[in-house]
Formats: sequence, structure tokens, C-alpha cells
Amino acid sequence: MTPDVEKIIQWAQGAGQILREGYGKRHTIDHKGRVDLVTEADRRSEAYLIEKIRGQFPTHTIFSEESGNMIGSDGACWFIDPLDGTTNYAHHLPIFAVSVAFADARGLQIGVVYDPMRDECFSAVRGQGAWLNGEPLHVSEARELIQSLLVTGFPYDPAGVEKNFAAFAHFTRLSRGVRRLGAAAIDLCYVAAGRVDGYWEQSLQAYDLAAGALIAREAGARVTSLDGDENLLKPPFSIIAANPVVHALMLAEFKAIG
Ligand code: IPD
Ligand code: CA
Ligand code: CA
Repeated sequence: MTPDVEKIIQWAQGAGQILREGYGKRHTIDHKGRVDLVTEADRRSEAYLIEKIRGQFPTHTIFSEESGNMIGSDGACWFIDPLDGTTNYAHHLPIFAVSVAFADARGLQIGVVYDPMRDECFSAVRGQGAWLNGEPLHVSEARELIQSLLVTGFPYDPAGVEKNFAAFAHFTRLSRGVRRLGAAAIDLCYVAAGRVDGYWEQSLQAYDLAAGALIAREAGARVTSLDGDENLLKPPFSIIAANPVVHALMLAEFKAIG
């Protein structure tokens, strides 16, 4: 049975409410790595979402950031990032979101990203479009990199960070600027909304990108790996999302700089 997008929106908003209630308070911060954090809010939001999904779809697989993989007995699966932008959240910087995607054997079907601080709910259903609080979303119309505002993200491992510096410098020279907002799901939704013209990241996880990638695609973006592959759900989960013209320009630059 395919879930209903309205139900997933309700769940993402419920998880967002948990994040909003905890925002700005003293957090319990644990380290998963040197700079990779997890707070009590990540765990609460995740427990809430898993309970909702399990309650209605007990046989589905769930890939979730903090609890890992819960393998179900049919081909349907969920990708959950209960708090995308944990470092921002831990520092009381209000840029973060809840990200939930549903996929079946045909691929990604539904994506919902909820930003609780702005009460912005981005959603998409494959083949039907993408919306922000019910209004249709469209990518920007930028035609040149020099007219484009770009955004990127950096992973937690130091080698991955170093690897992205060259691309960051390169695109900063070629564009109107490159932002680093700190939440991949928000970055992708901002491509969908035309607030930025392009986004790339070299190494993510499936739960970081699944919902946002579908939302960006349904808003008219071309979304591929850094090699131009349409299949995003495989390592190293690299991504370029942009309006189709800017995507082609970005892809060509990545080929040129290796
Ligand atoms: C991170 C954010 C960040 C991106 C990192 C992600 P988290 O997710 O999306 O923008 O650059 O690669 O790991 O840890 O805040 O859920
Ligand atoms: Ca994330
Ligand atoms: Ca997270």
C-alpha cells in the first residue's frame, strides 16, 4: 500500500514540533565523531517518526540516521533524517529540518521536508509536482553561472572537507556566491523553490538527500550524482541539483576540475 502524502506531512510536522519545542534550550550533545553531533532532539524526533511509520506500515524497511537500518519484509522503504542540520540546532542556529522519503520498487515516490522554524513544508509526489505549503514549486531560470547563487555542504570527515575546498573556491569565482547553510535537505528544497540556482555535495547518506532530491526533481531540477548518474541512492551519494541549464554548466565544471 502506498502511503498518503498528507499523512507523511502530518508526521513530519509532528516531528518538527518536537524540534521546535527543544530549540534554544540546553541540549544533551553526544559525539558520533570529532565534529559529528547528536542531540536528544534527533533521537526524540526519530523515535516519533519510526513509531508512526511502524504503526501503519509494519512490514516496510526503514533507513534512519540514528537507529540504522530496520529491514522489513517487502520492497517498500523509508529514508528518515529526523533532524537535518544537527550542528546548527546544537548551536541555536535556526536552519534545520525533518526529512522523510518513501520509495518502492519503482524508486522514490514521496518526499517531505519540514522546516519548523519557518513553518515551511516542502513536499513532492513523483509525477505530480512539488509544493511549499500547498503552493507549486519551480526552479529558477538562471542561465549563466555568473547569475547563479549556489550552495554546498561539507561532510564531517576531514579528508572529505579538504576534497570540497577546491570546488568551493572554483564555483565561488564563477558564480554570484556559494552559501553553506548546513542542512542538505534545506539546500535541495531551496533549489526547488528557486531561492538558489544550484547545489552540490560530494558525499552524503541516502537519508540526507532522498526527500529533497525528489522535491527538487518535481520542481523541475535536474538531479544527478557528480558523475551525471540519475541513480542517487548509491555510494558515495554525491549530488548536483540545479535548474537544467545550470546543472549542465556545473557538471561540465566538475568534469574540467576532475
Ligand atoms: C548534515 C547536513 C550538512 C551536510 C552534511 C550532513 P546532519 O546532516 O545535511 O548540511 O553538509 O553532509 O551530514 O548530520 O545535520 O543530519
Ligand atoms: Ca542529514
Ligand atoms: Ca541528521
